[in-house]
Amino acid sequence: MKVPFIDILRYEKNFYETVSEKTVALLKNGHFVGGPIVGEFEASLKSYTKTEFALGCANGTDAIQVALRAAGVEKNDKVLLPDMTFWATFESVVNVGAIPFTVDVSRETLHLTVAAVKEGIEKFNPKALLLVHLYGWACPETLGIRKLCEEKGVILIEDCAQAIGVKIEGQSLLTNAYVATTSFYPAKVLGASGDAGGIFTTSSQIAQTAQKLINHGRTSHYEHGLIGWNSRLGAYEANFLNESLKHLDARLDSRRAVCKQYREKINHPQLKFISPAANVWENGYLSVALMTPESRPAFIEYLKKHEIGYGTVYPGAMSEQPGAVNHLGGKISHGNADWIAKSVINLPCFAYMTQQEVDYVIETVNNYK
Ligand SMILES: Cc1ncc(COP(=O)(O)O)c(C=O)c1O
Repeated sequence: MKVPFIDILRYEKNFYETVSEKTVALLKNGHFVGGPIVGEFEASLKSYTKTEFALGCANGTDAIQVALRAAGVEKNDKVLLPDMTFWATFESVVNVGAIPFTVDVSRETLHLTVAAVKEGIEKFNPKALLLVHLYGWACPETLGIRKLCEEKGVILIEDCAQAIGVKIEGQSLLTNAYVATTSFYPAKVLGASGDAGGIFTTSSQIAQTAQKLINHGRTSHYEHGLIGWNSRLGAYEANFLNESLKHLDARLDSRRAVCKQYREKINHPQLKFISPAANVWENGYLSVALMTPESRPAFIEYLKKHEIGYGTVYPGAMSEQPGAVNHLGGKISHGNADWIAKSVINLPCFAYMTQQEVDYVIETVNNYK
């Protein structure tokens, strides 16, 4: 049997037909950019995530850049971020002319801690922090980090590219996030059929500025109050996302069930499955296990031999990337991000994996000698 790491084409029965019909309607009415469907999607997104303001944009990287600028991060400002994230988080800081400073993550929670952020603030005196929530979890110390940033006057922006549908302390992670962003890249839990992203905020001021930045800094059609970008969400993606959102709860339940079964049924001395912290409700984006760096290569070969897809999210620390050399302002490292990068292994996990596929993965991994 062959089990891919991810299959993004397992749609619900009526999803394909509905999206197709509505796509034909768009082809006929010519609302290709913007238009009512974008507004409709933004309203559904706001309601699903329980946020004050939700905006669509072109992709998750633009979303971070727009959020940084809208929140007041300017040229040469210092921005802290975790050493373990996707490169887009680092890249966005540089793209708005600011300077990235990395802080190490915890080996236990794989996320930032209040203590690490405090150390970063004391050492680097940053203007902003990009808090990243990885693996379909939330950073378990989010509430403490929000409080710390408020006390220290550090602008907090949360990269929730992997965290749509995640809860912390029983509440949507996005509800009280001052400014947050997401990605609707097709492989995300709420994926578009191309690139798309989103920005969330509790501030009407930030929402208004972000809206302008997304659309050439426009204050009216031919008046431009800001230097922005063209990062508008297209109507086809808004349509696809709007229909996907209707099925999101079922998709997330299906993913969570896969992660749960791996944790409960895989029993192998070389793999340690990591669960999100007790105050976090995951969305099932990724299954996460750790191995010793020495044992991982042989296990990967075994997975390949048995045609089981896998991931290593992410295989390198940000501060170690060749592209970081000329941009990194400074770092605090205890070697944790690097160790996680060499130890992490992700098994197949996607919405509507069949029980047969899940059982095959479990049995094959349990039989690994
Ligand atoms: C943590 C994180 N941040 C940012 C991004 C960037 O999103 P996009 O690929 O939509 O630009 C991603 C997507 O892969 C991500 O996982």
